[in-house]
Amino acid sequence: MLYPEDSEIDGGRLRIGGCDAAELAAEFGTPLYVVAEDDLRSRARAFTGAMGDGEVVFASKAFPCTAVLKVFHEEGLSVDVASGGELALAQKAGYTGERIVFHGNAKSAAELKAAAEAGARIVVDNFDELDKLEALQAPVEVMIRVTPGVVADTHAAILTGHAGSKFGFSLPQAPEAIERLTHAPWADLKGLHMHIGSQLFDLEPWRLAVEAIATLGDFGAYDLGGGLAVAYTTERTPPTVQQYVDTMRATADELLGPGKALSIEPGRALVASAGVTLYTVESVKDVDLPDGRVRFVAVDGGMSDNLRPMLYGARYEAEIADRFGGESLCMVAGMHCESSDILVRDVMLDDPKPGDVLVIPATGAYGHAMANNYNSLRRPPVIFCKDGDARVVVRRETFDDLTARDVF
Ligand code: LLP
Repeated sequence: MLYPEDSEIDGGRLRIGGCDAAELAAEFGTPLYVVAEDDLRSRARAFTGAMGDGEVVFASKAFPCTAVLKVFHEEGLSVDVASGGELALAQKAGYTGERIVFHGNAKSAAELKAAAEAGARIVVDNFDELDKLEALQAPVEVMIRVTPGVVADTHAAILTGHAGSKFGFSLPQAPEAIERLTHAPWADLKGLHMHIGSQLFDLEPWRLAVEAIATLGDFGAYDLGGGLAVAYTTERTPPTVQQYVDTMRATADELLGPGKALSIEPGRALVASAGVTLYTVESVKDVDLPDGRVRFVAVDGGMSDNLRPMLYGARYEAEIADRFGGESLCMVAGMHCESSDILVRDVMLDDPKPGDVLVIPATGAYGHAMANNYNSLRRPPVIFCKDGDARVVVRRETFDDLTARDVF
């Protein structure tokens, strides 16, 4: 469940898209983001199949990579962008017009102009943005982002629909935004947008949120945002795409009225389990403490390629890529100069040694996206695997890249 559908474990060795993981590490180096291309397509098809005539919008922030966006473009998905940079990336991948949904709580006049020129659908977040659009006077398709005031069960850092959120118009403010955009000659108001948070296992908060936005009037279109959870460990199983979509559709039919144009904006659920990260073990250190022994397995990446454990206490699994299973209790540490740089706590590995390739599954979402150069690490490449072939779709940074912006 945690590894790509298009992967197998054969004699304890992991293969992804027909490619042996340890051999990929030897060929391309580590750290390495490995993506099963067919998984991207099958996840996209699971969503489009379940949504029928509804719209599936990929939240590009989850994996902002031209090759990934191209796959989703081919699969007929729309794209959510949340900055001028993500807009440029989407355009490079072939997206045009209203298949681009433009988000953000601090859009600049220049970004709004670029979005209008691209013909994107703009999700209006606040009155200052409305003033900027008024000044621009460009014809635009818009939706209004409403904060429904519900609290979902997830990490506070990725909760967005609660009262007091920085995103969207509060329920009391929304009628004024609706009034202004209904009468603005340059605006084509399609309907309302909400996004209540990310990594949500429980479908009930969406119902409460839809109940809340249903009080604001009757619109032709609703975008219910993203947020479907994925499994990072075997501890908790998220709803299936079909269950999630069926619930969204039934809730919308019941509370908003039948026949509405519905959009959803999954990010993580489209990409997380399609990708794994490979590392090389560089050192193994036993530290004796009064209450037991800790075995640190230190790898050649860490918080520069996966910030999620440090930012959200996110838990992951790990294995030695050519010796799955094992009984040695380990803590997988990154190589960065701070103690928060622990990738996986308490995981059983098969007697790890320097030189082993370690794999962490379900890293396809928000890993590459939030990668950084802390300690001047070069950001890792992205490799697509399919039918036994591996191809580089993003190259590894070079040491020259690290100084490329220097000006003397
Ligand atoms: N739509 C909007 C307007 C969003 O802000 C987001 C995510 C999504 C859709 C997609 O949410 P997803 O389906 O991926 O949960 N860096 C964090 C996640 C931040 C999500 C921000 N917005 C993480 O690594 O967990």
